[in-house]
Amino acid sequence: MALVNEHYLKLKAGYLFPEITRRVKAFTDANPEVEIIRLGIGDVTQPLPPAVIDSLHQAVSEMGKPETFRGYGPEQGYQFLIDLILANDYEARSVRLDSDEVFVSDGSKCDSGNMQEIFAADNVIAVADPAYPVYVDTNVMAGRTGEADAQGRYHGLYYMPCTEANDFLPELPDRKVDIIYLCFPNNPTGVVANPQVLQAWVDYALENQAIILFDAAYEAYITEEQIPHSIYEIPGAKECAIEFRSFSKTAGFTGTRCAYTVVPKGLVARTASGEPVSINQLWNRRHTTKFNGVSYPVQVAAAAVYSDEGKFQVRELIRYYMENARIIRETLTSAGFTVYGGLNAPYIWMKTSGGMSSWEFFDQLLAEAHVVGTPGSGFGPSGEGYFRLSAFGNRENIEEAVARIRNKISP
Ligand code: MLT
Repeated sequence: MALVNEHYLKLKAGYLFPEITRRVKAFTDANPEVEIIRLGIGDVTQPLPPAVIDSLHQAVSEMGKPETFRGYGPEQGYQFLIDLILANDYEARSVRLDSDEVFVSDGSKCDSGNMQEIFAADNVIAVADPAYPVYVDTNVMAGRTGEADAQGRYHGLYYMPCTEANDFLPELPDRKVDIIYLCFPNNPTGVVANPQVLQAWVDYALENQAIILFDAAYEAYITEEQIPHSIYEIPGAKECAIEFRSFSKTAGFTGTRCAYTVVPKGLVARTASGEPVSINQLWNRRHTTKFNGVSYPVQVAAAAVYSDEGKFQVRELIRYYMENARIIRETLTSAGFTVYGGLNAPYIWMKTSGGMSSWEFFDQLLAEAHVVGTPGSGFGPSGEGYFRLSAFGNRENIEEAVARIRNKISP
């Protein structure tokens, strides 16, 4: 008899974004004439930069000729892409990494979700609350938690509430934890961490032999000079942190799929008997067993992001979305809403009207303004009473959406 992994049964409802899609579909089925504006899931809307498209075409053509056709590539990624990553994303910021510390993959969602597999079941996991749901759900699936309580807090996880009172920055744990998920610029709140904040986390991790899983998928949206783009800009981080980076939000690759994860060779965790084990080697073992690499054309396309034209075009793309963020932030603020984020991140984190719950506000916005956002409570119990708007829409939609919210919804 086949038995299921019962840990999956602890998961609350569906994954957040499919649940939003379900509710929106129910609404549009009942109101087919209504034009909905979707600022829910953080999915890009602008086409891939021309430099990326040119390279993609070229690489696809290579695949059609016997002399340039390629089969399996290295699971960890082609050297040409890894070299560009090292030079542009790290050496340019005075961070030295080796080629075999970079693992190219098809997404940071997969990598940040899969990484927990190489760690023992009895690690204490710390997550910010609210947080990208993948961190929590994958640990639930792996059996590292008990059931969720009425607020949706899973027994056994260490939650770090991020609220107005602490400027949405998680506080250092008051006990020993083993694995810490951090995301800066933050999804969903849009806040960033300065070097002092990150240094405190690195110091905590080194002192407690903990490992930080640092999600930097939105680093390209940092506008303030003093904010680190990589955790490895912080002394000691190479001994305690793994970093996730993605081309999705940086260069419009959400549907094209390319990302990478950095696992430094200095990073060790221990067996129960105290023997040190290289995390880089374990991840390499997992990656090469379960993954066959990102397709050649997509890696060539990702490499184009680092060409002069590619860099220019990507900067323009980011400028476009950040102007959207400014429009949302300023319009809603002047309409009387309390609004955070949107300065170094493509997300706006707003308070719901009059103490409404996040899902009530979602339903009201959908029904009255015909705008879709993401309920803050979907990111964790401390997100209750908040709502996330994505700045990844096209300009016309963004302007129309905020006008509708201003006209139809009272703060
Ligand atoms: C989000 O909306 O939080 C993101 O688009 C989800 C993701 O990147 O997987």
